[in-house]
Amino acid sequence: MASPRVLSGIQPTADSFHLGNYLGAVRQYVALQEGYDAFYCVVDLHAITVDYQPEALRRRSRIAAAQLFAAGLDPERSTVFVQSHVREHTELAWVLMCLTGMGEAGRMTQFKDKSAKYGESSAGVGLFTYPILQAADILLYGANKVPVGADQKQHLELTRDLAQRFNHRFGETFTLPEPYIVKGVEKITDLQEPTAKMSKSSSSPAGILDLLEQPGPLRKKVMRAVTDTGTEIAFDEENKPGIANLLRILSALTATPIPDLETRYAGQGYGTFKKDVAEAVVETFAPIRERTEKLLADEDELDRLLAAGATRARAVAAETMEKVRDRAGFLPTP
Ligand code: TRP
Repeated sequence: MASPRVLSGIQPTADSFHLGNYLGAVRQYVALQEGYDAFYCVVDLHAITVDYQPEALRRRSRIAAAQLFAAGLDPERSTVFVQSHVREHTELAWVLMCLTGMGEAGRMTQFKDKSAKYGESSAGVGLFTYPILQAADILLYGANKVPVGADQKQHLELTRDLAQRFNHRFGETFTLPEPYIVKGVEKITDLQEPTAKMSKSSSSPAGILDLLEQPGPLRKKVMRAVTDTGTEIAFDEENKPGIANLLRILSALTATPIPDLETRYAGQGYGTFKKDVAEAVVETFAPIRERTEKLLADEDELDRLLAAGATRARAVAAETMEKVRDRAGFLPTP
């Protein structure tokens, strides 16, 4: 039997992924190459749902892809591709949009948050239909599992609803995907504001650890991370959110359970602990940054890898779309 399929998408909206992206998404992508037929997509079409610059998007799409390969995605095993290279994504999104209720799309909390932030009148319709494009990404490939952050659960539910609706109306076509949410790293928070998610759009530079950052600034940011006035290294989300975040980070990076870390650092000051967190971050990030830089220095080679990914992705997407066109009642393409 063929391996189950996994698909995920990551937005090229920054010049580097950050620690939250790395632990919550990228590292899982690499792990899931084992045992799954994996498809990973740089979702540039999603990135244009908010204000952007074309040159920055082009640069960031290549940077995102390079980081995925540098973090350990093997182009022989995983299909890594850029969403806009496979035209079927937008085509299926249109068909699914016609099956989505206005109210249903309007209930998506990410849309509500983002449109509130941009102001109702300047938020584009693309922001509204964003989750439907995401559903198309997933359904085109018949994905069984979708590694995402906890904030994407609602989009996965919409995807399942749309798949079921299409299947019911036009005949069995789509596989119903399950979200795959990794415990423990769902909440990597801002170093300066440890109750808020580490996020490109809302964190200050001092609150974010970028994968492509140099060791010096990385260490400095960890050492300056906001903690409470106490001295104890204990996991207490309520009263010590800064220390809890650093414990989560060290635990994830060194594969050590949090209680073991609490024991190890009992009676030691914040300084020693933070230094170890900083070292763990630098040790993980430095080799990935070096490989990313190498890949970015050879644009032709990177583009060749992405062309190969697009070819493989297109083959699967085209077959699904052929079925969809037929079942939905379109004439055969002449
Ligand atoms: N919306 C996802 C996020 O912000 C990104 C995404 C786009 C995605 N298409 C996808 C995730 C398909 C999983 C599967 O994280």
